Amino acid sequence: MSKKAKLQSPTGMHDILPEEQKYFDKVYDTVKQIADFYQFQKIDTPILEQAEIFLRGLGQTTDVVEKQMFLLKTKGGDILALRPEGTSSIVRSYLEHGMFNLPQPIKLWYFGPFFRYEHPQAGRYRQFWSFGFEVLGERSPVIDAQIVQIFYNILNELKIKDLIVEVNSIGDSQCRPYYKKLLISYFKSRETSLCSDCRRRLRENPLRILDCKEEKCQPIKSQAPQMIDHLCEECHKHFKEFLEFLDEIELPYQLNPYLVRGLDYYTKTVFEIKEDSEEGKAQGALVGGGRYDNLAKILGGKNVPACGGACGIERLINLMKTKKIRLHQISSPEVFLAQIGDLARKKSLKLMEDFRKENIPIAESLGRDSLKAQLNKANKIGMKYTLILGQKEALDGKIIIKDMEKGKQETVKLDKVVKEIKKRINK
Ligand code: HAM
Repeated sequence: MSKKAKLQSPTGMHDILPEEQKYFDKVYDTVKQIADFYQFQKIDTPILEQAEIFLRGLGQTTDVVEKQMFLLKTKGGDILALRPEGTSSIVRSYLEHGMFNLPQPIKLWYFGPFFRYEHPQAGRYRQFWSFGFEVLGERSPVIDAQIVQIFYNILNELKIKDLIVEVNSIGDSQCRPYYKKLLISYFKSRETSLCSDCRRRLRENPLRILDCKEEKCQPIKSQAPQMIDHLCEECHKHFKEFLEFLDEIELPYQLNPYLVRGLDYYTKTVFEIKEDSEEGKAQGALVGGGRYDNLAKILGGKNVPACGGACGIERLINLMKTKKIRLHQISSPEVFLAQIGDLARKKSLKLMEDFRKENIPIAESLGRDSLKAQLNKANKIGMKYTLILGQKEALDGKIIIKDMEKGKQETVKLDKVVKEIKKRINK
C-alpha cells in the first residue's frame, strides 16, 4: 500500500482554532467600536479580484506584484488574484458603485483575510488577516492625521503601548520624478557598493533602495538625498500641516526619511506604526498606510484624493499574547443538563431553548445515553447543578435538580426549572 502524504494546511496558512477566536473577537469588537465612533462604514469586497487591479494599482515592479500574488485562471480565461491588500479593491468598488456621487468623503473600514506568497517567518504568513480604514474624496491633511490617530487609539485600547509612529512624505507626481533622478544619479555613482537587490532596484524602483536592510547599503543610504528636502510647495505644505495636526493631538511620532513603503500608489504622506519590543521589531510594522491621491485615476476613474492604512491582525494578536493581555471571559455555564431515554432527549432540546431565552448558559451531552457518563462530565467541568431528566420525570413533566457540591437533590416541575435555577445562581 502506498504511503499517502499527510494532509495539512498550506504553507504559511493557519487554522484559527477555537481557543484563538477570543483574540479575533476582541480585536474585531474594538475596531468596530472605534470605527462607529469616527463614523466609518463597513465594507466587504470579494477575496478574488481581477489581477489587473493590483498590477495597475500596486505597480508592476513592487515585490507584492512581482513575487507575491496568488494568481488563477478561470475556465472562462479571466486572470484573477487572491487579494494581497484591501486598498485597490476599495477604490475599485468606490468607482464601480459611483460613490463619488455621494457626499464626500466616503469613510470605509474592513476586516478580513489577505494573501501574499511570501517566505513564512515571524509575523509573515501567506494568508494573514488585516483590518483597514480608508477615507476617499478628501484632500486635507487633517484626514491623514485622523487615520494615524485611529490606529493609535485602537492599539492603545488593546493595551499595546510603546508604539513608534514613523512618518514621511514621498511627494507627488510634481516633485517625485525630479527627486528620483537625483537619487538615481547619487546611487549610480556608488552602484558597485550596493547589494545585488539594490542594483536591481536602481533600475526598477530606486526609492525602494531607501528601505533596504542590508548592512553594506546603510552608509550609502545615510548620505542619500532626502525626499523631504525636495518636496514641491504643495507637498511641503501638506506634510507640515499633517505634522501640526499630530502635534495638536499630542501623538508622538518620528520622522523617518527612509520610509517609502512597498506599494507604488502612495503620494505625499506615508506612515508606519511599530511596537518597540524585541518581538515587535522582529515582526515588522503592525500598521502601514498613507495617502494615495492617484490610485483612482490609475484604476480608470477620476481624481479622488484619499488616505488610509491597514493593520496586520496576527502580528497584533502575537503581541497581545506575549503581553498577556486579559480578555473578557464569556460567562461559562454552571448548570448541566443530563437526560435518559428518547422522550427526555426530545424534551431536553426544548428545555435548552427556555434557558437560552433567559440568557442562562447551560452545558449538555445530548448524544450520550449513560447517566454515569453525563454526571462524570458535569463533575469534570465543575458544574454547580445538574438537571436530570429521566424517562419517568419526562412523563410526569418534572425534573431533578442535583446540587453537585452538597450532593442533595430535589424534584421540581419542568416548566418551573428555569425560574428555580435562576434563583439559585442569582441571575
Ligand atoms: P502593508 O504595509 O503592505 O499595507 O500591509 C499592512 C499590514 O498588514 C502590515 O503592516 C502588516 O502588519 C500586515 N501584513 C502585511 N503582509 C503580511 C504578511 N505576509 N503576514 C502577516 N501580516 C502581514 C497595505 O496593505 C496597504 N493596503 C495599507 C494601506 C491602506 N495604505 C493605504 N490604505
